[in-house]
Amino acid sequence: MQHRHRETDRCCRMLLGDVFPNFEADSTFGKMKLHDFLGDSWGVLFSHPRDFTPVCTTELGRAAQLSPEFIKRNVKLMALSVDSLEEHHGWSKDIMAYNNAEPGSQFPFPIIADDRRELVERLGMLDPEEKDRSGMPLTARCVFVIGPDKKLKLSILYPATTGRNFDEILRVIDSLQLTAHNRVATPVDWRPGNSVMVPPSIPETEAAALFPAGVYTKDLPSGKKYLRYTPQPNTQQQ
Ligand code: BEZ
Repeated sequence: MQHRHRETDRCCRMLLGDVFPNFEADSTFGKMKLHDFLGDSWGVLFSHPRDFTPVCTTELGRAAQLSPEFIKRNVKLMALSVDSLEEHHGWSKDIMAYNNAEPGSQFPFPIIADDRRELVERLGMLDPEEKDRSGMPLTARCVFVIGPDKKLKLSILYPATTGRNFDEILRVIDSLQLTAHNRVATPVDWRPGNSVMVPPSIPETEAAALFPAGVYTKDLPSGKKYLRYTPQPNTQQQ
């Protein structure tokens, strides 16, 4: 389908599978062009309402603590808000102090400056329900996970008043990376190492060959055989 390959135009909601706009921006790590910055990595771009605010400080503090976990998974983090570079640099020192980090240690990933609100508008990140003191819409807490093919793999949208859970973002990345290379799906609350599910699109005859570790089918009152589990594959299917 043609729209799966389009690059999203101005101010348009992105759909899963869309190529993420290759925007240019100023960040605390210097000028960046998204696709070049990502290279062969996965990316997480997340927005926050403002610098020097309480919930945002706890969120970026937690993301900074978990940064080695994202690096281990070949994922590059990027934060974004409608504040200036100068504000980002000042605030990132506060975040590191909130984390009780060693004095002088650097904030581990770029924060994008969007003080002209161009990107938040283009990427549909504004929350019209929440306004700042001057009546401008606040930036929502968006999370975009971008694959190495530069396509949108997942988006989550929280209002300004609810902080996110970055352990959950790591968990969904584990699922996205596993399911990118294996014809499986992950059930509720799945964690790496748990059994995974055989998707309904795979016929019983094919499932046995695809999953040599075995397929367990739970008996159900309907008699339908759709609840099929298999151990998590350790190698990538071809
Ligand atoms: C905060 O980060 O604390 C926050 C920002 C905007 C609205 C509500 C809370």
